[in-house]
Amino acid sequence: MTDHNNDVVLSFPPDFTWGASISGYQCEGSNPHADWHHWEPGNILDGSTNIRSCDYWTQYKTDHELLTQLNIPAFRLSIEWSRIEPKQGCFDQVAINHYHELLSDLKQRNISIYLTLFHWVLPKWVADEGGWTNPDIIGWFSRFIQLALDEFHTYTHSIITLNEPMVPLSFGYLSGMFPPEKKSVRRFLGACSNKMKATLKANQLICQLARQKGKKNNNGIAQTYPAFEPYHKSGPLRLYEHLVGKLSSHIAYDWWDRTLNKQPDQFAFCGINYYFRMFLKFNIHHSHQLFIDESTTPNESTQTQMGWPIHPESFYDVMSHVYKRFKKPIIITENGIADPDDTLRPAYIIKHLQQIHRAIQDGIPVKGYFYWSLMDNFEWKEGFNPRFGLVAVDRSTSELTRQIRKSGYLYRDIIRHNGLTRSMLQLVD
Ligand code: BGC
Repeated sequence: MTDHNNDVVLSFPPDFTWGASISGYQCEGSNPHADWHHWEPGNILDGSTNIRSCDYWTQYKTDHELLTQLNIPAFRLSIEWSRIEPKQGCFDQVAINHYHELLSDLKQRNISIYLTLFHWVLPKWVADEGGWTNPDIIGWFSRFIQLALDEFHTYTHSIITLNEPMVPLSFGYLSGMFPPEKKSVRRFLGACSNKMKATLKANQLICQLARQKGKKNNNGIAQTYPAFEPYHKSGPLRLYEHLVGKLSSHIAYDWWDRTLNKQPDQFAFCGINYYFRMFLKFNIHHSHQLFIDESTTPNESTQTQMGWPIHPESFYDVMSHVYKRFKKPIIITENGIADPDDTLRPAYIIKHLQQIHRAIQDGIPVKGYFYWSLMDNFEWKEGFNPRFGLVAVDRSTSELTRQIRKSGYLYRDIIRHNGLTRSMLQLVD
């Protein structure tokens, strides 16, 4: 496969961390104790259900071998609460042992583990008790976090307490696109408050453990930062779209960030998940969405398979915004593109890395980059159609055969060179 010449034009700091991300539920497969498993039939856009997913649960060694082949030194993955505690108060030792084996395999390969403790999916028994709307979840979640720390912290380089806290709550309680699909502002607000309290408690447990071990805590939260833009260039519609953008930012991350920021030393780094800029366009027929059509993209912008407009410059703005607010090191915990033919992905990666390079030059301490995702996987409401992987997963084969895409090899070369070479940059000229 193509190697790129040694002429590195944009080099990254020597201690920059290169990685790839996945999450448990999206890749492991076969998990009947998860709330999503019960919600999926009839609710997934491509008609699929996530019964096998990528079968990472059993094929993890194959996938870790791919990380080795691609020279990827760090891996972000998550553990599933529903596997560890499939029934209230009953912990599944077989599943816990399996995670030990999986994490040991990464360790033996010298791959740094960035472990997300919670990536959206609840155990079915928690969902049946009202999920995040039930204040008891604070205690249940803390018990799970304590167990996860006791069992797995020794494997980790860093801990990500949870992934994008507000996304499943907004989709589950406002738009109704995710389970539990119960649209209610009252429920939404209750769920937000409980999730915030549970997160603060989880962070305390992480910090306490670090203190006991005489170490500095190395944890963060992976937060989503979509860039909201008014569609109209001027006039009252632009003003309206701007105000809805403010409200959307408030719900997506601002409220969360402000509240968390009031507590000192909650986390050591800021995790940023960045994918797209979103245009908000007034639409009189969209009364159910504050009269906004958010799928609208101006004609000139290239879109991903998800219909998301690509805008690397907004990525720079997000990094700058987060640094100004928190003054903490930044790790890009997710950035990637759904692109089945792999035609846009190479340029997408290069252009987003250029923005990181620019941010570092400007004094913003970006310490690492994790591409989402190592492999094609279960993209929630959209099912298996969107292809985010550096590695393609062939769903027509019973083994779910993996094949490295050309962008996977490009990423390998970027890591080898610790930067972008002249020939890589020519791809985006
Ligand atoms: C989530 C992932 C998801 C990705 C692409 C992120 O917001 O953390 O689980 O697959 O976006 O939609």
